[in-house]
Amino acid sequence: MRPIIFVLFIITIAGLDICDAKKLKMNYYHKRCPSVERIVREITWSRVGADPSLAAKLLRLHYHDCFVRGCDASILLDSTPKNSGEKDALPNRSVGGYEVIDEIKKKVEQLCPHQVSCADILTLATRDAVSYQFGRSMWQVRTGRKDGRVSSASEALDSLPSPFANFTTLLHQFQDNDLDIVDLVTLSGAHTIGITRCTLVARRLYNFTGKGDADPSLNLNYATTLRKLCPNPINRATILELDPKSSTSFDSHYFEALNQHMGLLGSDAALMTNSLSASIVKKLQNPHVFLAYFGRSMKKMGEIRVLADGGGEIRKNCRVVNA
Ligand code: HEM
Ligand SMILES: *[C@@H]1O[C@H](CO)[C@@H](O)[C@H](O)[C@H]1NC(C)=O
Ligand SMILES: *[C@@H]1O[C@H](CO)[C@@H](O)[C@H](O)[C@H]1NC(C)=O
Ligand SMILES: *[C@@H]1O[C@H](CO)[C@@H](O)[C@H](O)[C@H]1NC(C)=O
Repeated sequence: MRPIIFVLFIITIAGLDICDAKKLKMNYYHKRCPSVERIVREITWSRVGADPSLAAKLLRLHYHDCFVRGCDASILLDSTPKNSGEKDALPNRSVGGYEVIDEIKKKVEQLCPHQVSCADILTLATRDAVSYQFGRSMWQVRTGRKDGRVSSASEALDSLPSPFANFTTLLHQFQDNDLDIVDLVTLSGAHTIGITRCTLVARRLYNFTGKGDADPSLNLNYATTLRKLCPNPINRATILELDPKSSTSFDSHYFEALNQHMGLLGSDAALMTNSLSASIVKKLQNPHVFLAYFGRSMKKMGEIRVLADGGGEIRKNCRVVNA
């Protein structure tokens, strides 16, 4: 008998891990806060309308949140004297959008105090920020997430893929989050909007193998253009479009660029080094396919290790855990 009970116990424990995502549902706030999805959309659309760079910031913020401890809004927590939070981890440079989440949270707390989690607000606002350009919701978001109480800078560094990572490492890091190769390629398409800095590309332009050489996989004309934009010695402040000439439009141009070996970060270029991945890149050059796949993968990413009824809390202020 005992081994069977043990096996059942293991299955139950393993089940618990994914159970919380199953507790999410459509219109979770239907009774608790009927207007929340409208409020999130109104504020997000008005802020993204006034500042188009905000869409990329929110998208990156949500991705970083989900990859570190799951989508539990831990990235929104400010560091405290005793604890250096995810915000202060190295890749914080172009993470932004905190003010919009604060603004939404404030409004939502006025209407339905202590009902709506910061994790749900961030997930909804990200969907709406990307959707703004299209004037309609591009994918559905299930809600019911709770907020976590822990945020760690060192954990963020370990969990987030590096822009220098090769294909194998990238795929493993996505698989650790129950995302597959299609999700990896599709979600990298988020780099169709937004920016990076010359510092992260310098190695590919000037010193790829430490011998003063360029990355041979980089399109030659593009490399020449990039060296003009990022002259050596590198100016830390110079920014570059992740998707050349198309960095404010959410479209499939990123995949056309990849196909011409114009992926800017090493991690973008890495998607062309595996044959299956490269074939997915080809497929996603079709804008309809890309948008449909992107919505599907964003739903998956938005449900990574979420806290539902079992654990977590609904923060009063997205920047601090409840007392
Ligand atoms: C595949 C692994 C990924 C790596 C290695 C990576 C790395 C990076 C890096 C280094 C930057 C530039 C940051 C800076 O210059 O400070 C960046 C920007 C960005 N990333 Fe990723 N990223 C990855 C996947 C994703 C995913 C899955 C998403 C969202 C679904 C995403 C969304 C963005 C956005 C929107 C920006 C532009 C931010 C802005 O302009 O403010 N990235 N990423
Ligand atoms: C992270 O952000 C803070 C606050 O904006 C800034 O002072 C710090 O220099 C940033 N860190 C890095 C590595 O860029
Ligand atoms: C990918 O990078 C990892 C970690 O840096 C390394 O261990 C591995 O050998 C690399 N794989 C390939 C195929 O280059
Ligand atoms: C190029 O890389 C090598 C090895 O990492 C390093 O020793 C050298 O200083 C670098 N050169 C430049 C110009 O940065």
